[in-house]
Amino acid sequence: MKDQRSREGWVEPSADRLASQTIPSPNIWDDPDGYELENVGVDPDGALETAMLRVLGRCPADGFTGMQVLDVGCGTGYHLPWFAATAAQVVGVEPHEPLAIRARDRLARHGIDNAAVVEAGAQSLPLPDRSIDLAHARWAYFFGAGCEPGLAELERVLRPGATAFVIDNDATRSTFGGWFVRAWPSYDALAVERFWRRQGWSRERVDIRWAHRTRADLERVVRLEFTPQMSDRILAEHTGTEVDYAVNLWWRRY
Ligand SMILES: C[S@@+](CC[C@H](N)C(=O)[O-])C[C@H]1O[C@@H](n2cnc3c(N)ncnc32)[C@H](O)[C@@H]1O
Repeated sequence: MKDQRSREGWVEPSADRLASQTIPSPNIWDDPDGYELENVGVDPDGALETAMLRVLGRCPADGFTGMQVLDVGCGTGYHLPWFAATAAQVVGVEPHEPLAIRARDRLARHGIDNAAVVEAGAQSLPLPDRSIDLAHARWAYFFGAGCEPGLAELERVLRPGATAFVIDNDATRSTFGGWFVRAWPSYDALAVERFWRRQGWSRERVDIRWAHRTRADLERVVRLEFTPQMSDRILAEHTGTEVDYAVNLWWRRY
């Protein structure tokens, strides 16, 4: 099947191309409702929002006013309403069709008319050159070593002066970071840092927390992220509904 040009003029990748570019995300693919609980419990203090606005040099009241925003790997579109509340226009890009459908449903449920969702991967964004002011990719396994085609696409679609953010785990700090390193001992945080620095990105270290409503929610979310054995160990050691969680906010101005 060939790539298709949409009515809006965007080139939408063929199903084959999409499948070859997509990195499986078992947590959100297999249990999107559990992943929704995870999103609800992440960063109740808005530390990531504060850090992003600081990098952009904007005050909270302005938010993303006037901006064309791109959320790459938007999943079920959890973050789209937040951007759409202040941005001029928002586009969520998600290659996994069932999630793209959920993201569109979310926009419809919220009555949001300044956002859209397209099915595509980071490596072939169906967007015009120099059309985006702010790109955001959260928990984006598809950005990291080997993701250079995706970074080249960002470079193409971002306007001069635009900013890109990639948010991911900081395995070197925090209780969550400790769990992460135990679960993936071969993860090389220094190599990840060298990768981003080589591409000209900067880092803000941000301390967030998971604050889940109930112990059952925390358990479900832990089991979503870790193997059964690792989850049993974490849950035996860790009491309560919260955990401190260090993240890296990688960013670059274009
Ligand atoms: C862990 S989820 C995060 C979802 C969302 N950013 C959030 O915070 O709720 C990662 C997402 O990246 C998507 N994904 C996988 N491969 C991708 C690619 N090549 N380009 C863009 N997104 C991709 C997955 O389908 C999944 O929805």
